[in-house]
Amino acid sequence: MKFFADTADIPAIRELAEAGLVDGVTTNPSLIAKSGADFLEVTREICGLVDGPVSAEVVALDHATMLREAEVLRKIADNVCIKVPLTIDGLKTCRALTGEGTMVNVTLCFSANQALLAAKAGATFVSPFVGRHDDNGFDGMSLISDIRLIYDNYAFDTEILVASVRHATHVLEAARIGADVATMPPAVIKTLANHVLTDKGLEGFATDWGTTGQTILRD
Ligand code: E4P
Repeated sequence: MKFFADTADIPAIRELAEAGLVDGVTTNPSLIAKSGADFLEVTREICGLVDGPVSAEVVALDHATMLREAEVLRKIADNVCIKVPLTIDGLKTCRALTGEGTMVNVTLCFSANQALLAAKAGATFVSPFVGRHDDNGFDGMSLISDIRLIYDNYAFDTEILVASVRHATHVLEAARIGADVATMPPAVIKTLANHVLTDKGLEGFATDWGTTGQTILRD
């Protein structure tokens, strides 16, 4: 499963990239607002930090203006992936862009039927929002299972990009189901390394090593 960083925070992306823990990046208008950065400049900088897809979202609601915005965004770098909303205008824009070889991430997906439409429109990625689904009393992970089943039934190429990930259990369940990608805040990626027994084991090794009086670096 690929890991995307769900952020426009440059130092956080750089740190994950150096650790080999990031295969791509997703942004949205809220994350850009939170960063306080210029959208086009920060997107260019992110594209230089990771080799994989960097999702940059259009803000227009109509097809014609979405296409004009996408034209600006896709010129930023070859690894820009245009993010469009799961609306009829967004799907129309998706079809037009993928037809020209541009990657498209169809976002704000909350039902399996919506995901079916995204695949039929030729989306590179579909982004079902599991956290927001859970927040509203639905079962985000059953949505991912349904989409996996449907995409496998018809051999759709669209990748399932699990979004709105809140915690490590979301990541584990998405991987069990066979989702293609999980996008998550850098803090969630880091929590995946945590285990109480790892900490306890390190403490024990440090204590026992201390009793030997040895060092590895001897210069
Ligand atoms: C990513 O593509 C989505 O925009 C993001 O994961 C949404 O996350 P949120 O529900 O925590 O805002």
